[in-house]
Amino acid sequence: MSNNPTLRLKGKVAIVTGAASGIGEETTRLFVANGASVVAVDVQDELGHEVVQSIDSERVSYHHCDVRDEKQVEATVSYALEKYGSLDVLFSNAGIIGPLTKFLDLDIDAFDNTMATNVRGVAATFKHAARAMVARNIRGSLICTSSVSASLGGTGPHAYTISKHALVGLVRTACSELGAYGIRVNSVSPFGLGTPLACKAFHLEPHEVEANSSALANLKGITLKTRHVAEAALFLASDESAYVSGHNLVIDGGFTVVSHSYSTVV
Ligand SMILES: NC(=O)c1ccc[n+]([C@@H]2O[C@H](COP(=O)([O-])OP(=O)(O)OC[C@H]3O[C@@H](n4cnc5c(N)ncnc54)[C@H](O)[C@@H]3O)[C@@H](O)[C@H]2O)c1
Repeated sequence: MSNNPTLRLKGKVAIVTGAASGIGEETTRLFVANGASVVAVDVQDELGHEVVQSIDSERVSYHHCDVRDEKQVEATVSYALEKYGSLDVLFSNAGIIGPLTKFLDLDIDAFDNTMATNVRGVAATFKHAARAMVARNIRGSLICTSSVSASLGGTGPHAYTISKHALVGLVRTACSELGAYGIRVNSVSPFGLGTPLACKAFHLEPHEVEANSSALANLKGITLKTRHVAEAALFLASDESAYVSGHNLVIDGGFTVVSHSYSTVV
């Protein structure tokens, strides 16, 4: 454990995927601010380099990786090991919203691409990060970004909802094997956020996505921000969650466990 309680990841090495934007960018900033060395991974190279330059630290570097390609994933893990000498944390956060069509019009090719990014990408990153950890006796932490759409149908597009449900299974099955090596496996599952993923899909400004989410939210008087998700990822990455594994940490203000049907009649 770190002697400085304010640096919760001091000396740890992390890979963050989807780091050029949204939740991944915020988490990269927070991990570095908490003492970690971070390999920031994305396919948006220009944005990724801008993020890393703006952080302005020797403890962060950008690396191109399309998580759908296992070879690129394996090369990214090797890069982190060579650059920073270890791998303690993986935040497998890259994802796409996929097709917005009705189920009756489901485009199977677009479905495949959503699964390749949101599920195969996480499986490949978990596999190669875990192999590196096992080979070095590192009691690491694997985290992925799922969604409220992993708990409840009707909260996102169909392919997206299927992919996020699959991540709950991916976390549980990886957890069942990797616990023997002291490796923890968890997910974070946010409610709607005003990031490019949602803004581009619905042609809305961030404040409009946030307003829509807030209107549907159970918890009032607060707007969900990427910082709230990054804080949850930080907890799961840090030694503060040393006995937490197999958990889906839902960040939704109670949205997926509450129905307001009763309160509308009393
Ligand atoms: N925005 C929301 O409302 C919301 C809610 C719940 C969960 N999530 C999840 O959060 C995660 C991050 O999304 P965000 O909201 O920050 O969106 P975002 O679009 O801002 O960030 C996603 C990043 O992933 C990258 N990416 C996409 N495909 C990739 C690939 N094949 N390889 C590498 N990188 C790739 C993108 O380039 C982008 O930088 C996603 O998994 C998403 O499903 C988002």
